[in-house]
Amino acid sequence: MTQYFSIEGSGGKRTLSGSIAIFGAKNAALKAIAASILYKNPLTLTNVPNIEDVLRITEVLTEMGATIIRDQSMRSFTVDTNTMSTTTITPEIAKRLRASIVLTGPLLARNGHVRFPHPGGCVIGERPIDLFIEGYTKMGATITHDEEGFYDIRSPKDGLHGAEIFFRVASVTGTETFMMAATLAKGTTVIKNAAMEPEIKWLATMLNASGAHIEGAGTPTITIHGGELLAQDKAISKERFHVVPDRIETGSFLVLGALLAKELTLTDVVPEHLESLIELLTYAGVNIEQTANTITVRAPEEGAVFRAVNVRTHEYPGFPTDLQAPLMIFLTQAQGESLVFETIFEGRLNYTEALNRMGANITMMDPHRVLVHGGTSLRGKQLESPDLRAGLAYIIAAAIAEGASEIHNIYFVDRGYEAVEERLRAIGLSIVRHEEK
Ligand code: EPU
Repeated sequence: MTQYFSIEGSGGKRTLSGSIAIFGAKNAALKAIAASILYKNPLTLTNVPNIEDVLRITEVLTEMGATIIRDQSMRSFTVDTNTMSTTTITPEIAKRLRASIVLTGPLLARNGHVRFPHPGGCVIGERPIDLFIEGYTKMGATITHDEEGFYDIRSPKDGLHGAEIFFRVASVTGTETFMMAATLAKGTTVIKNAAMEPEIKWLATMLNASGAHIEGAGTPTITIHGGELLAQDKAISKERFHVVPDRIETGSFLVLGALLAKELTLTDVVPEHLESLIELLTYAGVNIEQTANTITVRAPEEGAVFRAVNVRTHEYPGFPTDLQAPLMIFLTQAQGESLVFETIFEGRLNYTEALNRMGANITMMDPHRVLVHGGTSLRGKQLESPDLRAGLAYIIAAAIAEGASEIHNIYFVDRGYEAVEERLRAIGLSIVRHEEK
């Protein structure tokens, strides 16, 4: 049954206050679950968010024969992939879940074979996999693309071998996939122009705590010395297997707080992972305070206005493309013109059309750039969530709007944010989940 949210906007009044605990990062949990294929014993992870994308990747692994046990909170997770009986990634799910591409590295490295369909493109852009195909070829694999549209990849008889891989574009899942594949390869792999996102560094730390030899994760050059299957060492700090906090969830709630909270504290976060957003919001006039693991945002003085600011999305530590949509809502409320340049994905600005229907004044210059004429009031509307990040942005837009809004297609929001309505209701937002009739 599909569902929708109804939201009663505050018309810009600061009605929110309290605190929200941030859960583990979707884009770290999905990779850590994939990494379980590299382990000779079950892998236990904690702080795994209870979201649709995690359910989908566990569904794939279960269909392939893995055993997964979740505790009652659903956030502690034990994955045993030793019972897996196939190297074909379940096509129905793989086509819908782009992140399933990260399974290819561990599967190929461990079993010498993987078969999978092209992980379907999505509304944010084409999502090619050329870097994966080229990387596997460099590691000695042979690749066929059959008439059913499946890629069939085989390692050489003695397994994948180490290689030098230079990414033409710094790819997040590409970096993670090859880091994992190289962990079980023969010899040394060097990934150059690697992505540097905190989730990649966290994954490398977890793998190293289990016997991998990865150096340089979090920098543009990562060196991996291949070795044996990994084992979770229970004597090692549990922290290493505790999924790093979700910086995108944190950033999205921070934007909501900047616009509507008297005071909002986000706990269980790593503020350092959000430097680009915090810097930008502070420049625009938002009051932000940080401790080692919390961020607090407070209402500005009566009458103060936020100023416009230009944004260009960039690989970490630049401004994340996944926060571009939430920030857009902030910019509709800032005084002046802001240019938003989405450099990573070509389809990730189309959601702005609906914001204009709400009263925003955003001009599309080309598929990568929009000009936001700020300081506009928004009115409640019926909206369709086009993807998870824009879906969350629509929640923020609806919250500041005058009147009621409905947000449909919220499966997308559930893909990436756990119990979003309960957590936002707890800080004072009027949001209710309904079944579609
Ligand atoms: N690219 C290629 N060839 C490839 C792979 C990527 O040209 O073989 C290009 C892409 O088209 C894009 C650029 O490289 O222009 C960077 O994309 P990247 O590969 O880094 O994206 P991704 O790994 O597919 C991850 C996140 C995305 C996030 C991006 C950028 C996961 C599961 N997904 O995607 O998250 O937007 O990095 O930071 O980690 C989301 O969570 O909503 C989401 C879309």
